Amino acid sequence: MDHRKDEWLAAIAAADDSRLRELDGELFGKSGDLTALVKGVAQLPKEERRDAGRAANQLKAEIQAAYDARRQELADAALAAELAAPDFDPTEPGPKHSRGTLHPITVVRDELVDLFTSMGFTWQDGPEVESDFFNFEALNIPADHPARDSQDTFWLDDGNLLRTHTSPVQIRTMQRMKPPLKVIVPGRCFRQETVDATHEHTFYQMEGLVVDKGVSTANLLHTMKTCLREILRRDLVVRCRPGFFPFVEPGFELDVKTERGWMEILPCGMVHPRVLQAGGIDPEEYTGFAFGMGLTRVVMLRYGIDDIRTLSGGDLRFLRQFEEVGR
Ligand code: DAH
Repeated sequence: MDHRKDEWLAAIAAADDSRLRELDGELFGKSGDLTALVKGVAQLPKEERRDAGRAANQLKAEIQAAYDARRQELADAALAAELAAPDFDPTEPGPKHSRGTLHPITVVRDELVDLFTSMGFTWQDGPEVESDFFNFEALNIPADHPARDSQDTFWLDDGNLLRTHTSPVQIRTMQRMKPPLKVIVPGRCFRQETVDATHEHTFYQMEGLVVDKGVSTANLLHTMKTCLREILRRDLVVRCRPGFFPFVEPGFELDVKTERGWMEILPCGMVHPRVLQAGGIDPEEYTGFAFGMGLTRVVMLRYGIDDIRTLSGGDLRFLRQFEEVGR
């Protein structure tokens, strides 16, 4: 049965690159000789099949090994010839391959995560598809609050929604972990916005939550100022004014002065007692602060980007400008 074995081995041993490629099809292809040989076993009388099958497979493996060895031999010889060529200069720099870069949002997020972990915070995640309970109810957001409006929220057919902020992870964290708590939650949020230079339906926030005994507004403001100074890396004029969010009391807005006027980037406040309760924490014993940084806005401020749409527009010419920072 192996009457052609020597013929095949000889053909392989003598083959150059292009002949070897042909042999691949002739031997192992769909209607190749060895494929046919293995298939042919099925036609034999039953009592012969077992031995013949074993022999056919063994032969095929042998020929395959010879084939692989020849291919390696040719590749080695080609490389050796290239290295030996008189004009080959091993010290010349190789071709440049683009390694890709991190997206500016990822760069700033990673920096923020580094900053906050150095202050003892841990990173928590939560789902992007949320329930009404975690996104609104547990955060003390009443049924008539504008954020619940279909104008703002992407509701799903099953009654769930795409989270409109990272705040629901406050509740999820409190339900899962005991104080003292110090967490950050960078994440993607969704709102049914009319898209323009400063509004996107998809954007990033970074939530923060600190819960412990005796946490005060002074702790909150200190943390926020440290954060802004580190992250924007320039002398900033920051404005603090009262802000209203149902899940904090008191609430604040920290705004940063830009060429175009004040930009709201850091709403924050002391966690509302009802929110602590929804998280299973006794507000008589513990207090906390929370913030919801507009991560996308911080990125825009940092790099002087004036149109939010460029960030998810997928235009590589825009993204390539961040090649240096994204490494
Ligand atoms: N979740 C709010 C929003 O998206 C932002 C926010 C405000 C978060 C105050 C907070 C906070 O944690 O304390 O509009």
